Amino acid sequence: MTAQGKMVTLDVTDLAFDGKSVAHLDGKVVFLKGGLPGETVEAEIVRSKPRYDQGVVRRIIKKSELRIDARCSHFEHCGGCTWQDLKYEQQLSYKQKQVADCLERLGGFDTVEVKEIMGVDDPFWYRNKMEFSFHVAEDESMCLGLHERGHFDRIFDLEKCYLQSELSNEIVAWVRQFVTSHNIPAYDVKTHDGYMRFLVIRQGVRTDQTMVNLVTNLGAFPSSEMLVEHMTGAFPQITTIIHNQTGKLSNVAVGEIEDVLYGPGYIEEKLFDCRFRIRANSFFQTNSLQAERLYGVAFDMLQPEPTDRVLDLYCGAGTIGILLADRVDRVVGVELVEDAVTAARENAALNGIENISFHQGHVRDYLKSQRNGEEKFSALIIDPPRAGLHPKAVKRIIEMQPEKLLYISCNPSTFARDAKSFGQAGYDLPAVQPVDMFPHTMHIELVGRFFRN
Ligand SMILES: C[S@@+](CC[C@H](N)C(=O)[O-])C[C@H]1O[C@@H](n2cnc3c(N)ncnc32)[C@H](O)[C@@H]1O
Repeated sequence: MTAQGKMVTLDVTDLAFDGKSVAHLDGKVVFLKGGLPGETVEAEIVRSKPRYDQGVVRRIIKKSELRIDARCSHFEHCGGCTWQDLKYEQQLSYKQKQVADCLERLGGFDTVEVKEIMGVDDPFWYRNKMEFSFHVAEDESMCLGLHERGHFDRIFDLEKCYLQSELSNEIVAWVRQFVTSHNIPAYDVKTHDGYMRFLVIRQGVRTDQTMVNLVTNLGAFPSSEMLVEHMTGAFPQITTIIHNQTGKLSNVAVGEIEDVLYGPGYIEEKLFDCRFRIRANSFFQTNSLQAERLYGVAFDMLQPEPTDRVLDLYCGAGTIGILLADRVDRVVGVELVEDAVTAARENAALNGIENISFHQGHVRDYLKSQRNGEEKFSALIIDPPRAGLHPKAVKRIIEMQPEKLLYISCNPSTFARDAKSFGQAGYDLPAVQPVDMFPHTMHIELVGRFFRN
């Protein structure tokens, strides 16, 4: 008989990969929204499937020793953080365990060493970029903030977020006040009327430069000169202000028409000895300090040599290749997004790097085009999106037989799937190194080096 709709008492035993907690009911797994290991909870079963049930914790009967008070007053309903109420050391150990579970369950590996996950020094204030949405509430009032957990179309008015910086919180409050007092209407995602869509704040944590990017519906920004004068008067730390217009219905904070209202139109960030120019729409790792650790580990594993020819697949704005270029013979980066490739070329020039080139297009197509290519690569670096590698890309990489194969992943389950294919083709994976880029969230980054045997 289905348990759907029932209220049940459950003991939470584990945390699942997607931020849910795990319990068992009559021998069946239950994935729960809410709850921490060691807790007894009263939960409602909201969905019953043949192999598992889904539930929502309605009341905690016995609290876990791992539970702490979340610092943020918005935590209960904000879609940003999942585990602010779990001690940071425990977040790390669950992430580490999830990597080991994925490798074993999905990759069939039982001998890969999962090195101790690299945590951050301060699990707050780590983001260099945040997107805030404007919204028309049910009572027609305007709010500016973040998404409610589980609701793509509901935004709450943000008072304070602990993930970016105090300056970012102050800018949010200031922009909300400016827009309200000048009667500039917020965009309504349902009717597509209105003007203000997003406020994006980017900060160079090593350079103290700050970008404010206002993303709106189509049309010139009303009183933009006054906005710039007042905003830079209130916040001299702001180094550039951008206006992006978009007429697209999709709810993404990217514009088709960009006007620089103030400053150079970009900020810079430093990683190791290189400078990177970050524009409003270009990709950059969101946690600068931890990105250095991730890349540091990746380069230690890769062991680059002056004769290496490196293929940097899914290269984004070219960060990895640019940081590596002076230690190898040559780097080719491949990236789908045109803006990212433009940024990559600009950043290579900015750092005086000449032995790097970038190719814009699908990795799969590039690999196909190289089938009879002249270029032989001794080292491949792969850093794909969460979906991991396309089977044809895996096949082609195996055919290329690179001596050094380094895989950076933001999804241990697709990493385990792809690693299994490399393993079957004769590559050994002695160890992986998880790195925590996003404390309080369920996201896990890891890096592994495959050795051809
Ligand atoms: C996780 S990011 C890696 C960025 C970069 N390696 C870095 O460290 O900054 C993945 C990148 O892959 C790009 N991408 C996604 N699908 C792609 C495809 N099929 N072919 C080429 N690039 C793709 C995305 O635009 C994104 O820049």
